[in-house]
Amino acid sequence: MVVLTSSDRSYDPQRWARGYQSQTQERGQWIEDIQGEIPAALHGTLFRNGPGRLEVGGIPIGHPFDGDGMICAFSLSQGRLYFQNRYVQTAGYVAETAANKILYRGVFGTKKPGGWLANLFDLNLKNIANTNVIPWGEKLLALWEAAEPHALDPHNLETLGLDDLDGALKPGEAFSAHPRLDPTCDLDGGSPCWVNFSLKTGLGGTTITILECDLNGKLLRRHSHEIPGFAFTHDCAITPNYVIFFQSEVQFNPLPYLLGFKGAGECLTMRTDRPTKLILIPRKPSFGEVKTYPIQAGFVFHHGNAFEEGDRLVVDSICYDEVPQLKGGLNFEQVDFATLAPGLLWRFTVNLTTGAVDRRCLDRRCCEFPSLHPDLVGRKHRYLYLGAAHHPEGNAPLQAIWKWDGEQGEGLVRSFAPDGFVSEPIFVPEPGATAEDGGWLLTLLYDGVEHTSKLAILDARNLNPVAIARLPYHIPYGLHGHWCDRVYLPQGVSFG
Ligand code: CO
Repeated sequence: MVVLTSSDRSYDPQRWARGYQSQTQERGQWIEDIQGEIPAALHGTLFRNGPGRLEVGGIPIGHPFDGDGMICAFSLSQGRLYFQNRYVQTAGYVAETAANKILYRGVFGTKKPGGWLANLFDLNLKNIANTNVIPWGEKLLALWEAAEPHALDPHNLETLGLDDLDGALKPGEAFSAHPRLDPTCDLDGGSPCWVNFSLKTGLGGTTITILECDLNGKLLRRHSHEIPGFAFTHDCAITPNYVIFFQSEVQFNPLPYLLGFKGAGECLTMRTDRPTKLILIPRKPSFGEVKTYPIQAGFVFHHGNAFEEGDRLVVDSICYDEVPQLKGGLNFEQVDFATLAPGLLWRFTVNLTTGAVDRRCLDRRCCEFPSLHPDLVGRKHRYLYLGAAHHPEGNAPLQAIWKWDGEQGEGLVRSFAPDGFVSEPIFVPEPGATAEDGGWLLTLLYDGVEHTSKLAILDARNLNPVAIARLPYHIPYGLHGHWCDRVYLPQGVSFG
């Protein structure tokens, strides 16, 4: 293992921390400051979500994951870019804005004596709608895993309200922030469908409900399964036959949470002596038996992709040795990356006949936010695109875009160090291209010197920047987003 001293740092920690300053202004404007040329064939809208407000009334929140969701829309056509950002008008955001003070303490909620575990995700939490945003019929959905989605108008990002997906969700039921879009579902005659889940943890175990919906949001299939134990499961992967979950052996100590010393997420400790469970839930009626395999995976937030090949099932995931969290009551802006375990890309291969599991660390580079060509979700892929650290080893902020190549090993890295910090790269296929990497990667770059954000458009083949569009202000580090082939613009604005 390479141990980096502070002089080897690829970044200035103070410049990095500025990317967590709130952005309270909502705007809509043409972006004219563009290096290079936006490809004329890039036609559609990139929607992104993330915590935009990280303090209220001058008091910082405890963790960026608790920040209010702010949606950004980058509308691209004819080589031009129109940008908009708006807050999701959640009940908590509206109330705290009116009061100009923090009324909720992150995920600190009501105490239900004797029932804390049963009601963990039923507590009166602030639904912050900050994790992902997806197109859903004629609407957008802003997602946060512990509650219902908020529907938005995709043209102007106005909040329409909480949405039960036409009754697909039961009252108060959560909708995870990580839907997977199956590009061709053979249950639906080859049409694409959204696959998502809802978790409910009780004293006896956890109920995982799978929801599959068409692109207009119509519910196609819904089925629930009981699994033993507590599940802190942020993401899933899919194949044509399965929804795949990793369940780490995590213990939840509710006392600091109930007393208000810590957020619920900080009360998790991982039993590193116990294996993680790889859980396969069948997607096809009658939704048969849930299969579970013990694996050594540590803790996982995100999966890159999964696929089936003969009787083998392969999952590529970002694994941590332990649940990543701050130690010793540190402010998140003062985090010392070197003291935290990096996320690393691993491949797990399950033999579905024998149950044998093989695992392999694919590279030592610290990484997160994996993505791939949307046509290959659940199918065999060669490339994954990730946010990654500048150096090949050691934990650090994400400053590079990494194209991992399953055939040639390490692949390519495009670093924006020392002053650039990247977000999730989103792959957009180039019209007519047939190669798996025939397209562009869109990522939001934060510049720690200028304190501005830039939309970087890279050629996915070689990671060369094609265009860098500079906003005259910054967008705080975000989480997830989606590309949509339709161009959305507010009323009165057009590409002409
Ligand atoms: Co996520």
